[in-house]
Amino acid sequence: MFKFMYNINDTTIDKISQLLSSKQFFRYKGPEKFSECDLFEQQFSEFIGPKKQQFSIILNSGTNALINALKSLGISHGDEVLIPVNTFVATALAVVEVGAIPILVNIDQSFTINTTELEQKITAQTKAIIPVHLDGLACDMDKICEIAQIHNLHIIEDVAQAIGGEFKGQKLGTFGIFGCYSLNVDKIISTGEGGILTTNDYELYKKAFYIHDPAAKYGPTKKEMLKDTTANSRGFMRVSEIQGLLGQQQLQERPKILKQLRSNKLELINELRTNISNKLSIPCGHDIKGDCGTTLHLTLNKTEEMIELSKSLFKAGFTTMPMPTRLAHYGWQWKDILPYKFKLPLFLETLDLSARTIRISIEYHWTKEDKIKITSHLVDALKKLGY
Ligand SMILES: Cc1ncc(COP(=O)(O)O)c(C=O)c1O
Repeated sequence: MFKFMYNINDTTIDKISQLLSSKQFFRYKGPEKFSECDLFEQQFSEFIGPKKQQFSIILNSGTNALINALKSLGISHGDEVLIPVNTFVATALAVVEVGAIPILVNIDQSFTINTTELEQKITAQTKAIIPVHLDGLACDMDKICEIAQIHNLHIIEDVAQAIGGEFKGQKLGTFGIFGCYSLNVDKIISTGEGGILTTNDYELYKKAFYIHDPAAKYGPTKKEMLKDTTANSRGFMRVSEIQGLLGQQQLQERPKILKQLRSNKLELINELRTNISNKLSIPCGHDIKGDCGTTLHLTLNKTEEMIELSKSLFKAGFTTMPMPTRLAHYGWQWKDILPYKFKLPLFLETLDLSARTIRISIEYHWTKEDKIKITSHLVDALKKLGY
């Protein structure tokens, strides 16, 4: 069984028990009083923010973080939003939820959005780009920021799967006007369910806070901050102190987990590069150093080879996934939610890449023996396939 990456240590259990005993779950404590949610938001802003000041809101899901970002920017009916065809369905759902049209873009060998095609798909209706740092792989944020600037588009980063990842030393989620993170069960850190929305624009932060909990405007705690704020759409996205406190505890564990995941991935890659021919492509996004290290992707030359490799990894008990089996992660699976007819011929490039790529989960808990076991298995299996 897959081991979740996050850690729940004894201090976390003690602190959560104390909170439960206190029965003080509501995030608003009155003016000038700091809650667990406030503290988490401050800590998260500091965690991602050294290079740019950030404001954070903890809310009830990564999907709602995306919906809130789109609503805060006033994106709605008829507007187009560019997203990769390979992302979790929530990215597309958020766009459809606000009435806008998700325009799908192929990925390239980096396993992130193809920036050449991205630019070609811009029209007069395009309002925003949602680059998705899927599996912790960083998109080409230099190129995406350049395109957004030329065409006057917003960038909303989907960082659901890449909390703490970086591009050229800057945290993912801080390049766009909004960063949207998930804290659900299978993420690097988790509050059970949950999400975070970040921005460096204080006016947008106030608007997003209002959309996340419009009623807060009438209560004593946030009344002053929200007195001049309103929006055309409203959501109900507030969380309790339990998530706020759990978020703080999880954030403390984050650097340790990230360091171990990255080092495990680099060790694996080094072994493969030393022992295997360079016919094998190892997609690492656009910044191997900033990669979160949660996943190793291997792109083979033929689908049959990917299937053979999968069989041998399954047989040996490794957590492995041929990419095409990630059903919620491809545009051709979400035909029912797209407001137009999906055209598969436009996405054969992504289909071809995915049909030759295997995804291996890297575990934080791996021992030295586990690493030797997986690397020697991979090297043997790939050599048998002629690599
Ligand atoms: C890329 C991506 N975007 C958005 C989401 C949505 O997050 P949540 O499940 O917290 O709503 C997820 C969740 O898995 C995701 O992987």
